[in-house]
Amino acid sequence: MADNKNAGLQARKDAATPRGVGVMCDFYAERAENAELWDVEGRRFIDFAAGIAVTNTGHRHPKIVAAIREQLDRFTHTAYQIVPYESYVELAEKIIARAPGDYPKKAAFFTTGAEAVENAIKIARAATGRPGVIAFTGGFHGRTMMGMALTGKVAPYKIGFGPFPSDVFHAPFPNPLHGVTTADSLRAIEHLFKADIDPKRVAAIIFEPVQGEGGFNPAPAEFVRALRKLCTQHGILLIADEVQTGFARTGKLFAMHHYDVVPDLMTIAKSLAGGMPLSGVVGRADIMDAPAPGGLGGTYAGNPLALAAAHAVLDIIEEENLCERATALGDRLKAKLIALQGEVPQIADVRGPGGMVAVEFFKAGTREPDADFAKRVQTRALERGLLLLTCGVYSNVIRFLFPLTIQDAVFDEALAILEGVLKETVGVTA
Ligand SMILES: Cc1ncc(COP(=O)(O)O)c(C=O)c1O
Repeated sequence: MADNKNAGLQARKDAATPRGVGVMCDFYAERAENAELWDVEGRRFIDFAAGIAVTNTGHRHPKIVAAIREQLDRFTHTAYQIVPYESYVELAEKIIARAPGDYPKKAAFFTTGAEAVENAIKIARAATGRPGVIAFTGGFHGRTMMGMALTGKVAPYKIGFGPFPSDVFHAPFPNPLHGVTTADSLRAIEHLFKADIDPKRVAAIIFEPVQGEGGFNPAPAEFVRALRKLCTQHGILLIADEVQTGFARTGKLFAMHHYDVVPDLMTIAKSLAGGMPLSGVVGRADIMDAPAPGGLGGTYAGNPLALAAAHAVLDIIEEENLCERATALGDRLKAKLIALQGEVPQIADVRGPGGMVAVEFFKAGTREPDADFAKRVQTRALERGLLLLTCGVYSNVIRFLFPLTIQDAVFDEALAILEGVLKETVGVTA
């Protein structure tokens, strides 16, 4: 019966798949178009999750569908490392031309964000001959062993999975709302150099220009500048993990374009290929060439269908001015949330560059993170057909990942739902 198709699927899921693959929704996708998706019972949702920051160009953009279709009719897999194809080389050329850094660059492609991170660390270690890596609390870099080691959040990502690769250290990420200044973070790194690892043994510092899972925390400009200086001083490589921030989300093609310093390596994934699995590492040519032939790659790395989609994504971002649109939509959302602050005392902060917007909740009248409030807003919004994601070390942040191609009317509808839900949730106690 169509009416309880979701319930039937849920029971089958519970019986056939492990609970470790945590699933947020209890309904199942049937089809999706731009910023909307429909479940198997015909219910419509406005998608402000974008498959976790993957569909900046919307679901099934006609140009992406056409590009994949065209590739499908030619070949789907040869393994780039066995029989190469032009689309890989051409995408590398395009990414090199667009990535920050006025120096010779090279790019390699993989499949997932975690794989890009793994490879960036491999490349950094091969180039420097050093083992150490410094990452940040609240950072998220994936679910592989090195990804977990770098991730600065224990639950749920690291519980039960250790030991992790060694020589990975964490420093606090600046977060003024929670009392961590840029000076505190830099002092902590200096402390690591005194207490834990000689800077001459550090291969790389990896950071997110705007922490994603960690709460949409932008890295202050003076912090990024200081990291660059520290890296240059000690021969350490600076890696910007742009897996979540890339491809117009922050109002620039890459978030690093907001800063006046450049990284040595950058990881990219998610919205790179509009829903097809593709990731990459781009960076200084001499560093990228450090690993010996055969040291980088993977059977599916740089899949031709995903590459076709990525070429279309870059065209769409330019043709549809998605950087400008991210900023315009983000500004409207931020203005709406700020205007609601008077009526919703739980709103402690509204932040984020371009369309990478988040709202953080504290218990009314306190500085105590309010995860329950965030959860209630998320649940009520979902009941009204708006799909939202939470994030943050304290799970008290709602992040907004609307497709940048969203129609104005659908965006307005979502903002109206959000406003109603926030106002309704104010008076509800746990
Ligand atoms: C900044 C960052 N790095 C790495 C990853 C891992 O990407 P994936 O889940 O594709 O392995 C993510 C995923 O959310 C991310 O946000």
